[in-house]
Amino acid sequence: MLEKRLRLIGQGHIARLLEEGVPFVSRDAVERDLSGVDMGLVDELVQGRHLFGDVDLSRVEPPEVFPASFGDTPGALPYRVHGEKLLREGRVAALVVAGGQGSRLGVEAPKGVVGVTPVTGKSLFQVHAEKVLALSRKFSSSIPLFLMTSRENDQATRFFFREHGFFGLDPADVFFFVQGMLPSVTPAGGLILSREGGLFLNPDGHGGTLSALRKSGCLDLMEERGISEIFYFQVDNPLVAVCDPLFIGLHAVNGADMSTKVVRKRDFDEKVGVIAKVDGRTRVVEYSDMGDGMRLAADDEGGMLYWAGNSAIHVIRRDFVQAITGTGLRLPFHKAAKAIATLGEQGEPVEIRGVKFETFVFDALPMAKCTVSLEVLREDEFAPVKNRAGEDSLESAMAMQSRLHRRWLEDLGIRVDPGCLVEISPLFALGKSDLKARVESLPGNIVKDMYIG
Ligand code: UTP
Repeated sequence: MLEKRLRLIGQGHIARLLEEGVPFVSRDAVERDLSGVDMGLVDELVQGRHLFGDVDLSRVEPPEVFPASFGDTPGALPYRVHGEKLLREGRVAALVVAGGQGSRLGVEAPKGVVGVTPVTGKSLFQVHAEKVLALSRKFSSSIPLFLMTSRENDQATRFFFREHGFFGLDPADVFFFVQGMLPSVTPAGGLILSREGGLFLNPDGHGGTLSALRKSGCLDLMEERGISEIFYFQVDNPLVAVCDPLFIGLHAVNGADMSTKVVRKRDFDEKVGVIAKVDGRTRVVEYSDMGDGMRLAADDEGGMLYWAGNSAIHVIRRDFVQAITGTGLRLPFHKAAKAIATLGEQGEPVEIRGVKFETFVFDALPMAKCTVSLEVLREDEFAPVKNRAGEDSLESAMAMQSRLHRRWLEDLGIRVDPGCLVEISPLFALGKSDLKARVESLPGNIVKDMYIG
């Protein structure tokens, strides 16, 4: 019986409300929410186990990074060719994580449905799907797209794809899988009611991707399809160069388990995690863990020593994910204080301070025997939509897309009026070299906002 079970796990306060039959608690909802939760794990987390500990930074050093200019050198060619070969052979999957709550942006819908391109307002999902479609055509192979959703936005995400005909992708090549949830708790470890009368749960973080891939059967499916590399990216970055052959090639030829694209931090104080070597292992050191010594460390010219900001773009070997999720290895959980919208004694809406637990995918990096880091230019590949306004907002991401496409056009000798916005569909050109091949079909002068598709 539910009440007995709740008492057994130390959650008598919820059992009591159920016994009293208060109208604002739903037995079905509590039962459903509890059924998806590993309460043993929650208990251990509350006791402080499996938590991310302090990183000993006494043996920290900057990582080796392939500079952004590497791509233009003759040395890059064999890597690019290898990446293209893997794509042609159908060994690469694209994986976008879209299970987050998007609380800073403050939209009710999944973030992926937000219109983000500067001229036509295509959604993030459409931009990513069209890149995958363009790549599939370019390499004459089917590149599967895996999408991680959460319990909250799974239905809406699937509906959006169906409603838009999967943006031209073959539905048989699109796979949705749902990440795990964990209850947020009071500081003393008590479960918290949601305003809907169930339990207050939160998605278990983007680190949940790895276990959700296994649990959902997607890892097996990837294996059956002969996928060896997973190109991982976040839904909020419209500039991401999905399945970049150079990056995939560098990762694969070097025998890396997990690789990362990095962008130069704007300044010493930008609040972003950096890639570093700690005790010989690659890891992301979060801004909050850095301390002044590391944050302000300078090289001989006075520049930032730890400049390699994590862009959250990775290539991960499929068998590495199998290895680390199969052995019971667990990513550490990060604990964060959070304001929680719940119900008071009489069912009235109240807000309390609670705690949420999440894992981060980059915490798998130290488990990798070999990693590769490749620098990319922010203006070329990194425009995350996080905030309502200002830095990393919808507005800045739109401007960056238009600026990049303008640069491609201008480099090919096409004049674009200063006030114009331009947008190039991934189905027309994925990059400057694709555009060059079609330059004949473009006007020599662009005098008003233009979509090239
Ligand atoms: P963020 O950490 O930026 O979170 O996620 P968010 O949910 O998008 O936004 P805020 O922090 O609530 O404002 C980075 C990426 O990881 C995914 C997000 O969907 C985004 O693509 N993510 C995050 C998940 O898939 N699951 C999670 O549990 C957390």
